[in-house]
Amino acid sequence: MANSASASFFTQAKALLLKNITFQKRNVKTNVRLILFPVVLCVLLFMLQLLLDTQLDKSKFKCGCMCADNRTKISQCPDSEKRCGVQYSDFFQAPMCAIPNPVEWPPLLQLPAPPNRAVRTGFLPFFDLPDASCRRTDSCPLSLLFTGENHSFALSVSEKMFRSTLSISDFGSNFLAGLAVNVLGSESEPERNNFIEPAFSSDLPIYYLQTNCSGTENSGFSFPSPTGANNEIKCALAKNLWRNSSTDINSELYKGYQRGNSEGQVNEIVSAFDFLNSNGNRYNVGIWYNSTYRQDAGFTANALLRIPRSVNLISNSFLQFLLGPGTKIILEFVKEMPKPETIFRFDISSMVGPLFFTWVILQLFPVILTSLVYEKQQKLRIMMKMHGLGDRPYWMISYGYFLVTSVIYMLCFVIFGSLLGKNITIEFIPLRIYPFSLMLLTLFSGLKIFTVNDYSIQFVFYFIYINLQIALAFLVATMFSNVKTATVTAYIGVFGTGLLGGFLFRFLVENTSFPSKLMVGGWIILMELYPGFALHRGLYELAQFSIPGNRRGTDGMKWHNLSESTNGIKEVLIIMFAEWIVMLFAAFYIDQVLSSGSRKGPLFLLKGFQKKSPFQKLDTHMQVSKELSQMEKPDVIQEKEKVEELLLEPTINHAILCDDLRKVYPGRDGNPDKFAVRGLFLSVPPGECFGMLGPNGAGKTSFINMMIGLTKPTSGTAFVQGLDIRTQMGGIYSTMGVCPQHDLLWDSLTGREHLLFYGRLKNLRGSVLTQAVEDSLKGLNLFHGGVADKQVGKYSGGMKRRLSVAISLIGDPKIVYMDEPSSGLDPASRKMLWSVVKHAKQNRAIILTTHSMEEAEALCDRLGIFVNGSLQCVGNAKELKARYGGTYVLTVTTSSEHEKDVENMVQKLTPNGNKIYHLSGTQKFELPKEDVRISDVFQAVDVAKRKFSVSAWGLVDTTLEDVFIKVARQAQTFDTFS
Ligand SMILES: *[C@@H]1O[C@H](CO)[C@@H](O)[C@H](O)[C@H]1NC(C)=O
Ligand SMILES: *[C@@H]1O[C@H](CO)[C@@H](O)[C@H](O)[C@H]1NC(C)=O
Ligand SMILES: *[C@@H]1O[C@H](CO)[C@@H](O)[C@H](O)[C@H]1NC(C)=O
Repeated sequence: MANSASASFFTQAKALLLKNITFQKRNVKTNVRLILFPVVLCVLLFMLQLLLDTQLDKSKFKCGCMCADNRTKISQCPDSEKRCGVQYSDFFQAPMCAIPNPVEWPPLLQLPAPPNRAVRTGFLPFFDLPDASCRRTDSCPLSLLFTGENHSFALSVSEKMFRSTLSISDFGSNFLAGLAVNVLGSESEPERNNFIEPAFSSDLPIYYLQTNCSGTENSGFSFPSPTGANNEIKCALAKNLWRNSSTDINSELYKGYQRGNSEGQVNEIVSAFDFLNSNGNRYNVGIWYNSTYRQDAGFTANALLRIPRSVNLISNSFLQFLLGPGTKIILEFVKEMPKPETIFRFDISSMVGPLFFTWVILQLFPVILTSLVYEKQQKLRIMMKMHGLGDRPYWMISYGYFLVTSVIYMLCFVIFGSLLGKNITIEFIPLRIYPFSLMLLTLFSGLKIFTVNDYSIQFVFYFIYINLQIALAFLVATMFSNVKTATVTAYIGVFGTGLLGGFLFRFLVENTSFPSKLMVGGWIILMELYPGFALHRGLYELAQFSIPGNRRGTDGMKWHNLSESTNGIKEVLIIMFAEWIVMLFAAFYIDQVLSSGSRKGPLFLLKGFQKKSPFQKLDTHMQVSKELSQMEKPDVIQEKEKVEELLLEPTINHAILCDDLRKVYPGRDGNPDKFAVRGLFLSVPPGECFGMLGPNGAGKTSFINMMIGLTKPTSGTAFVQGLDIRTQMGGIYSTMGVCPQHDLLWDSLTGREHLLFYGRLKNLRGSVLTQAVEDSLKGLNLFHGGVADKQVGKYSGGMKRRLSVAISLIGDPKIVYMDEPSSGLDPASRKMLWSVVKHAKQNRAIILTTHSMEEAEALCDRLGIFVNGSLQCVGNAKELKARYGGTYVLTVTTSSEHEKDVENMVQKLTPNGNKIYHLSGTQKFELPKEDVRISDVFQAVDVAKRKFSVSAWGLVDTTLEDVFIKVARQAQTFDTFS
């Protein structure tokens, strides 16, 4: 039966594991919800993808089609009649078409609209600019600027840019070639590519630029547009204007820019040329062009589509300057390269994935943190520790448990995501659900992030991360003691991290034009030191390898991609791994420091620097006061001598020996130090129940806390079963049972499961364990009516109390501390509890605190009254009563005018009578036992009754309560004098 050997590492680990499993089984709903979270999220994403796909499937996002007869709606058009292609598409549709033969477009110059063309203004007072009046008739000429080192050279070259008459040569069917010597332009905005030239699908006119436009009103010229549009063809006057330097040109362009001048007026120049140091043998030209012509979404490169014409213009003029008007470089047309059909797809998981998935994975963090903080807040951790659970099994099982949960969670996440992301072939689908699944399957290709990336990379990445996350949770848990605060903080962290990560990384990683790449790299690494951001970065990189149309392709990330310099996942893995190790150690270390009470103290590294504490002085002061007080307390001195005697013995076989135990709480904010326990000597042999009485705040709880290892004594020590509480607490735990003042129980476990767990921790197993649990349930009336198998959350306060007592007694501990075990119990349960404690004390030492004198008398072999941090008296109830009693208490109630008569009567009985209580006619007197006989008192009262009316009277022997009150009062008055 006796099991002095403490439970091994594995026994403890097993006990904790079994308990955790039961605990989780109870929490099955929460767990299912947790596991389902990623599933729900995946389904949500999938639905979104479905929606998007159906949207994108619309003709709006596909190459345009038209029925051959030009009237039938495309949805009703038979396939054979369908004509698809660029010519049937709008700008958005055109890039989607397969374009084996791109259309040839005449090259155009980009021209400003007539109201914006440069005119003479206050801020540009050049005489050669046209007068502003031309704007009213939309007939302003187009201005081009030029400069160069050799004026006459520049002038003669630029003169050859534009013709004075329209020339249409007959090239037969090749109309564009016939037109190519003329300079054409449009004010329409260019598109992103040249599959379609917007000039020919808008109703803006096409201009031909000439040095002379008179007599061209009826040129009779019409342009056969490839799209069949019929644009108006107009002549526009083009003027080359000389400027002294390129600086002048710059400033003129700048001032003319819509937003460059304060007047808000626009003065747009077509383009400008700087001939630099060119001459007949050398041709160096700079060209200004307006790149901001189309500004949407930053596609400034669009304007480049109309650059070729201005380059051709200036090259052609030079050639003519050199070789005469007969020689020409003709730019006949521009056209795009052919391309296959593009399917517009938008993979939602790769786009919003990193954000959502960061959330999903981070979701585990609050769960782990809450669970850790819960055990801390409810003091369950310390409760387990007090019943012998070591730190290492606790860590191993907790860590292992969280790891397994996380792995399962991630597996669900990845497997489900992959399933949704995979294209399943239709043969496997039962016919019954065919129509539905067909719809699903055709659109079943989202969530690529899971399917295309190498699973081993994903595994390594997620595995390292969840380990890091658990270590982080352990570390963070040391900072919280309240579940609510921890939960709120953690969730704010989760959502904040996701969003911030999204913004900052998009900004930093994708913005390649950021001034200094190196600096940005530093910032990114710095951010990745925060685990949430590292996770985000990793997911981002994985997504990069699965976004259709991305430069990294859609083949997914393979191991060899890790060496690419742009792939940040390598650094992320290294950082996370290193952090995991560091955090794990940090968390373990801090946990050791904190959970061992203040045995080491969180700042024990700083100890050496602390200035000498004032305890030295205090000690001597306390010595004096203690000696003073003990002079009057022979029993306390006797106890001290007994302890000193026992300490000299080579083997200490006493259950508990306190040797000058002290606890001082240093004063804060200018308050004086608080002496909770001032030098306590106490010995409790096995088989004894020692009752600790004392008013609230007397230091009983401080004493118990030192004994159960929650706090460290300031000085002195105690030996429990011969083990020192300062250094050998680990050994003591395995022979100790505690019934704390407040029940420390798991709400979702049953009473039986609690006892099984603590029994296992106390190294009970097999039938012995079952029997012990059964016995203790029966003993504490927790057996009948299925109470044992009800969850503790549904217990009444009294039932919880009884369970706490049962826990403290399970596994046959040698020492049991019970802190007010019967508080809140009904009389019947209390009687039952008492019989259990009486039975239990036979082979163990029990220290019990209580406020019930009845309980103390019923249970305790010896009592100590504890006031102001020190024992005032020690002894059994009878001794104490005899020592501190020695008096009868006479209570007499009369009308208030006869109070004096009563006093006289007592005075006659004994001159040593002492009034201890007086309230409107009721008086209490203490009468020394040696002075009075009881019969005398009866006689005196009889006599008095005849003289005046006595409404009530009584005579009692001293009770323990009287002793308690007396001792407490004495000690307090003594304390105020000392
Ligand atoms: C300027 O160019 C003309 C040809 O247009 C040439 O005759 C003349 O020598 C050049 N002047 C200088 C200084 O190079
Ligand atoms: C350009 O130079 C000519 C001659 O050197 C001068 O008369 C004219 O004022 C200058 N123009 C400007 C705008 O500075
Ligand atoms: C360039 O084009 C933009 C857009 O049409 C216009 O606002 C701006 O004034 C032009 N700049 C110049 C220097 O003409």
